[in-house]
Amino acid sequence: MRQAGRFLPEYRKIRAKHSLVEICKDPELSAEVSVLPVDTLGVDAAILFADIMLPLEGMGVRFEIKDGIGPVIQSSLDEFQKVNSLSTLDPSSDVPYVIEAISETKKLLNSRVPLIGFCGAPFTLASYLIEGHATRDFLNTKKLMYNDPKTWHLLMDKLSTSMGTYLRAQADAGVDAVQLFDSWVGCLSPADYRAYVLPYSKRVLSYIKDKAIPRIHFGTGTSAMLEEMKHAGGDVFSIDWRIPIDVAWRMLGYDVAIQGNLDPAVLLGDRDLIRARATDILTRTGNRPGHIFNLGHGILPETPQESAQQLVDFVHEHTMLRG
Ligand code: CP3
Repeated sequence: MRQAGRFLPEYRKIRAKHSLVEICKDPELSAEVSVLPVDTLGVDAAILFADIMLPLEGMGVRFEIKDGIGPVIQSSLDEFQKVNSLSTLDPSSDVPYVIEAISETKKLLNSRVPLIGFCGAPFTLASYLIEGHATRDFLNTKKLMYNDPKTWHLLMDKLSTSMGTYLRAQADAGVDAVQLFDSWVGCLSPADYRAYVLPYSKRVLSYIKDKAIPRIHFGTGTSAMLEEMKHAGGDVFSIDWRIPIDVAWRMLGYDVAIQGNLDPAVLLGDRDLIRARATDILTRTGNRPGHIFNLGHGILPETPQESAQQLVDFVHEHTMLRG
């Protein structure tokens, strides 16, 4: 979970010369940035350097990604007419640079570690489109969901079709796994998740059902809706730090893998704290196969690089020895 990879000085150097979107649209630069944490920290996978917002441009949405704020939409999509005018994504003409970045990154990785492709989940994308920017309470999103279900379902329908096509194009281009980012879905009740979100996340994942690559379903604040998320699909479920990992895994069932769940803030603590918290997670998962050790959400920009390095090394020492 390295989104906001600003904690790496090499990344900051590149960012001083190029905007985030510029990097994403330059396949060679994007590939270079994708492999940075593999080369510097020795992590076990690379994630495509893109942003969940990029494919929305192909659907006709205009946005900016502002430093320290995140995505900001020019005109929020809060009316039927605006949603109705969205087009369907055509990955080969709308995001050719993403497809090229995948082959460039695969070349640089040279089979050292797998490459993870990704897209935003319909709910999380819809929340940015409706609110216009990041929010705490998602009230405009919920208002539209409750009061104008026709517009809500049209928006979710369009987003899920486009994101399904987008993930499939990434799978065709050679990513080794995909991750569906539903970062903000934890603001919903399990019942609303079932009624307004589940069918659409399920649809996105169904586009790559026949591809033999793992699908990671990511969310935060989802402790109360893990069973519902499992119904939406995925081979791996990513959890944040608000639930002990063994409790979450028992709830999900051992027929799926689990990803998580260190609080990114732990990396602001000292070496002993980092070791203690990582040990707790590893103890809770035991020797059970199917655990991807990870942070529960994106790494914080103020993380000291040596703390991230200590964590990677510590997890390697304590998992490789376990065999
Ligand atoms: O992890 C990586 O570095 C790979 C590429 C990646 C980015 N965004 C680039 C980026 C990935 C996987 C994402 C996913 C993403 N983008 C999500 C889902 C994951 C999550 O963290 O919940 C979301 C919600 C977004 C939207 C978004 N874009 C946010 C919330 C931010 C951070 C705003 C901030 O400054 O705090 C962005 C900007 C962004 N996208 C950065 C990066 C590396 C920040 C650094 C920069 O501007 O250079």
